[in-house]
Amino acid sequence: MPSFKDFIQIDKGADIAIYLQVVNAIIQQIRRGQLRSGSKLPGSRELAEALTVHRKTIVAAYDELMAQGWIEMIPRKGTFVMQDLPEIKPKKLKQGEPVLLYPEKTIFAIPENRPGAFPDPVIPDSTRLIINDGFPDTRLVPNELLLRELRSLGRQTAFRKYHMYGRPEGTDYLRETLAGFLRETRGLPISAANVMITRGAQMGIYLTAQLLLKPGDQVIVGESSYFAATLTFQQAGAHINRVPVDEFGIDIDVVEQLCEKKRIRLLYVIPHHHHPTTVTLPPERRIRLLELAATYKFAIVEDDYDYDFHYTSNPVQPMASLDHHGSVIYIGTLSKTLVPAVRVGFIVAPENFVRAVANLRMAIDRQGDSMMEIAIAELYRNGTIGRHIRKVVNLYRERRDHFCALLTDRLGERVSFKIPDGGMAIWTKFTDSDLRQVSVKAYQKGLIMSDGQRYNTGQTNYNSARLGFASLTLSEQGKAMDILVNCL
Ligand SMILES: Cc1ncc(COP(=O)(O)O)c(C=O)c1O
Repeated sequence: MPSFKDFIQIDKGADIAIYLQVVNAIIQQIRRGQLRSGSKLPGSRELAEALTVHRKTIVAAYDELMAQGWIEMIPRKGTFVMQDLPEIKPKKLKQGEPVLLYPEKTIFAIPENRPGAFPDPVIPDSTRLIINDGFPDTRLVPNELLLRELRSLGRQTAFRKYHMYGRPEGTDYLRETLAGFLRETRGLPISAANVMITRGAQMGIYLTAQLLLKPGDQVIVGESSYFAATLTFQQAGAHINRVPVDEFGIDIDVVEQLCEKKRIRLLYVIPHHHHPTTVTLPPERRIRLLELAATYKFAIVEDDYDYDFHYTSNPVQPMASLDHHGSVIYIGTLSKTLVPAVRVGFIVAPENFVRAVANLRMAIDRQGDSMMEIAIAELYRNGTIGRHIRKVVNLYRERRDHFCALLTDRLGERVSFKIPDGGMAIWTKFTDSDLRQVSVKAYQKGLIMSDGQRYNTGQTNYNSARLGFASLTLSEQGKAMDILVNCL
């Protein structure tokens, strides 16, 4: 019989509770066969003394082991290791040699060169700085407050219903909260029935494409535009028509000419801080787009992913706020407002559209993460998200200005860019160096940046990248710029 004092090593500084350390050590001994079925365990007082811990700690450990089925307590006899241990060992499928190497490939063919295949995502790594694309500084996220809301959910009986299956449209609580928030802040005359919660903007774009498009349908996007949306339309079989984007966004005259020639089914537009060029669509163009959509009966997908981040001017109300005819599918996300890892976004649309996309969603995702949705709703209601936006906007404005000054001072004529009114990235053209080579060299020196290829549509080589400034402190920006200067 092993000495319990020897195999139960308590580390009072460890993150894991002491009673769980006792539990884990005893389970390990049972698994190793050192504590056999039927062996008697010391009484709680005796073990507590041996380990110099409180007796209640041992009582808690024994309760846990009993609840899991490792030990049993027999009245007036003591505590024993169970005869039948709670380890589930599957029956062997076949006697003999197991498969030692998992196959590298399937035996059946997988379609290659699918239309709309996505490039591999860029994954940040902690050893490199990143000025890729533009995303929020995840260190500023009010994680503690979010976790507090999640923790309190378990305790509130009113929210217990959200632990079960729910609606594919999302939890009513967040739908109502968002409808109220969007009514107040963006002038959208909507109710909860017009809101569907998605896992980020991308799901909204995907469901819309799947619902509306069939092979050969005509879709309009900007030249250049957000590649993920274009690929999603291509996956649905759409024919992509690219319309020039100038300093005020998508060219509406060209849209009109296209409408006269072709039956347009859907137009995708990013009204604030167009991706990639960061320009904003002014009210006159928005109104003309609405008129065209009503005349030619196409859907406008208004991807307002960047609505919250304005540094120089005020945002413009969404087209959805003036949509008399039911033309607009308005899409938003918390990926920038809060953090990309919280997969919460939304679609706002007429009710019949919300019902139809919700039904479609059930084929790939029965519903969203209700607990997270409730926690996010609470953060809206108690003002946390509003406060967070105001704070980071001030900080990002400073970061934008600092980064633009660095670009001018240190790279001068070698780049050209316009200071964006908002958003998280600077659309930067490299005037005398090949961006692909620059980005490879930068990566080797510890800086992740885009090579700009995803914006080249075949018609134009922009040799430009979105340089994200928001996620870096001023001193990190300085270091990133040192690397960039070095690579040029
Ligand atoms: C134009 C555009 N829409 C939407 C998103 C966000 O997508 P999601 O909410 O799926 O993270 C991005 C992210 O970069 C974007 O650039």
